[in-house]
Amino acid sequence: MTTPPNSAAQGYTVLDHADPVLADSPRRAFAEEVLVGLSERPKRLPSKYFYDDAGSRLFQDITELDAYYPTRCEREIFQAHHADLLDRFRRAPFNLIDLGAGDGRKTAVLLEYLIEKGADVRYVPIDISEEAMRIAVDAVGQRFPTLPISGLVADYFDGLRWLAHQTDRRNLVLFLGSNIGNFDKPRARAFLRRLWNALNPADRVLIGFDLKKDIEALLLAYNDPQGVTERFNLNLLERINRELGGTFNPDKFRFFSTYNVFSGAMESYLVSLVDQRVYIEALSQDFHFAPWEPIHTEYSYKYLDHDITDLAQFTRFAVEARWYDAQGWFCDALWRVEKG
Ligand code: TRP
Repeated sequence: MTTPPNSAAQGYTVLDHADPVLADSPRRAFAEEVLVGLSERPKRLPSKYFYDDAGSRLFQDITELDAYYPTRCEREIFQAHHADLLDRFRRAPFNLIDLGAGDGRKTAVLLEYLIEKGADVRYVPIDISEEAMRIAVDAVGQRFPTLPISGLVADYFDGLRWLAHQTDRRNLVLFLGSNIGNFDKPRARAFLRRLWNALNPADRVLIGFDLKKDIEALLLAYNDPQGVTERFNLNLLERINRELGGTFNPDKFRFFSTYNVFSGAMESYLVSLVDQRVYIEALSQDFHFAPWEPIHTEYSYKYLDHDITDLAQFTRFAVEARWYDAQGWFCDALWRVEKG
């Protein structure tokens, strides 16, 4: 910055992330999104904030419930079809990039096969929770001591930006579970366009799609009788208490989820049971909740087979293969990046 002599200071500053003002930015971003969401009518909180360390642990517990079929179905698909999937990759060096890896246990089925076949693979888990990442790197590293692992603690979008610079090898990007389902249709398209843009021609993505099915099975999966899903949702309020100095009393909210047949989404809510005010220190503000006023916390969109085809076409991927569990409840689709 240059300042001409004898004049008012003029010029500009380019802030970078090393600046102390921005160093606190994850907490600020959280505070800002809470402010925006709780100022909307109906109120809402973004579901990506479920996954702090405590929330990631609770989600891990969800994946082990009988009621929560997606993890089980996808594991079954991997067990039945891993050779068909992976034989396409074993010959050239590649990165196995795992977006929202969690503890990496599902991916281990794939890694085991690749290592057994002597594939030149580098495992790149990306997850928003540092604790989940530490557990994944430790567990996967211990199980496969010769496997190169370079984990990244980041959200999907920062992860994608980082990905765009990984040009040296082929990439297979895993976007498993019903992660894609947590985007509404326009956001799913936008996300996949960005993913396409960050990848090279002939890179592949493997995407998990939770399919439309018996509504009773959906309702049970998103509101389990043991109450783990309820604790998982309430953790979002407790996280606001912990990180932003909130005064939520989780006992004064109940969890509710429902299936919207028209939009095709499971919808989750926290509903205020009483008339109450909740102060949030980081926002120097309190928020009023009327009795039975909802906070929307998540959508989980369910797909039909032709929705998958349409989405690939719209985002300029070519569908290479699809695999299903025996019940036909879940689909993993392999897409290839087409460019030019
Ligand atoms: N991504 C998971 C899903 O959509 C998260 C999840 C599981 C979830 N159960 C939930 C989110 C209940 C909100 C409420 O399947």
